[in-house]
Amino acid sequence: MNSLTFRLLEVYQQVIECGSVTGASAALSLSQPTVSLQLKKLTSIVDMPLIEHSQGQIKMTEAGRAVYQCAQEVLSSQSKLTSQIQALRGLEIGSLKIAVVTTAKYVIPPILSKFCEAHPNIDVRFTVGNREQIVSRLNENRDDLYVFSQPPASDDLETKPFLDNNLVVIAPANYTGPNYCNLSDLKDQKFLMRETGSGTRKAIDQYCSDHDLSLSPYMIIESNEAIRLAVESGLGLSILSQHTLQHSVDNGLQILNVNGFPLRTEWQAVYSKHRPQSLAAKAFVEALEAAGKAS
Ligand code: PGA
Repeated sequence: MNSLTFRLLEVYQQVIECGSVTGASAALSLSQPTVSLQLKKLTSIVDMPLIEHSQGQIKMTEAGRAVYQCAQEVLSSQSKLTSQIQALRGLEIGSLKIAVVTTAKYVIPPILSKFCEAHPNIDVRFTVGNREQIVSRLNENRDDLYVFSQPPASDDLETKPFLDNNLVVIAPANYTGPNYCNLSDLKDQKFLMRETGSGTRKAIDQYCSDHDLSLSPYMIIESNEAIRLAVESGLGLSILSQHTLQHSVDNGLQILNVNGFPLRTEWQAVYSKHRPQSLAAKAFVEALEAAGKAS
């Protein structure tokens, strides 16, 4: 069976499915003598008759049925392979626009860096902004994928949680005020807060409203790093995502033990159900989920 080729199997499959050499030649855009010749060649390779004519119809012999089944399997694997290769090509040369909320910038870059190493030809655009800015990009449908911990509620969005985002109450290392307490016991402390529009701020405001508590900000600072440094310098307390603290705990900062904290939220990959998801975006969501499982 040395010279058995995809083409011979394809011709045989068409002859059987069209029920005639004429039908197969039309389906394959080949001349009838070419189809007959290929059929002869296949018969001589198998060295057994493959078809017989009965009452003007083509019937498969037993050997013919075995060849037909082989043709079905081989040709369907070939077509599966072709679509897999096309999918991989799409992934290798695609583009990916990701927009993430400020605090997610501590989480996404290492995952993105591995992803770019695995797919060096994908053109990645990475935007960072506070929650309000990223929500407005989402409403304008500007990116393939978004990362929030407080995604807007909408039936038009697909959300895939992939990693915990815990908010903690932080104080300077030399702080000696209330600890092992409720948040209400800290209401007279000076709180440094993210701006309205920040997801972190939204989670804190929600917690305060759920617990009938008012925490008036002593100072608004629109940057996690600046808040962390300000707390380290003794300017006040704050509530930030644990991801923003890096190596500051025990080294300028302490996390207070406050009932109900850490406030648990989750990082979520978010995309519109109405925007066709590119292969690159799908692969990046998988990378986020894998990183979350591995953490
Ligand atoms: P932020 O958002 O960086 O705007 O505070 C974080 C979040 O959505 O949890």
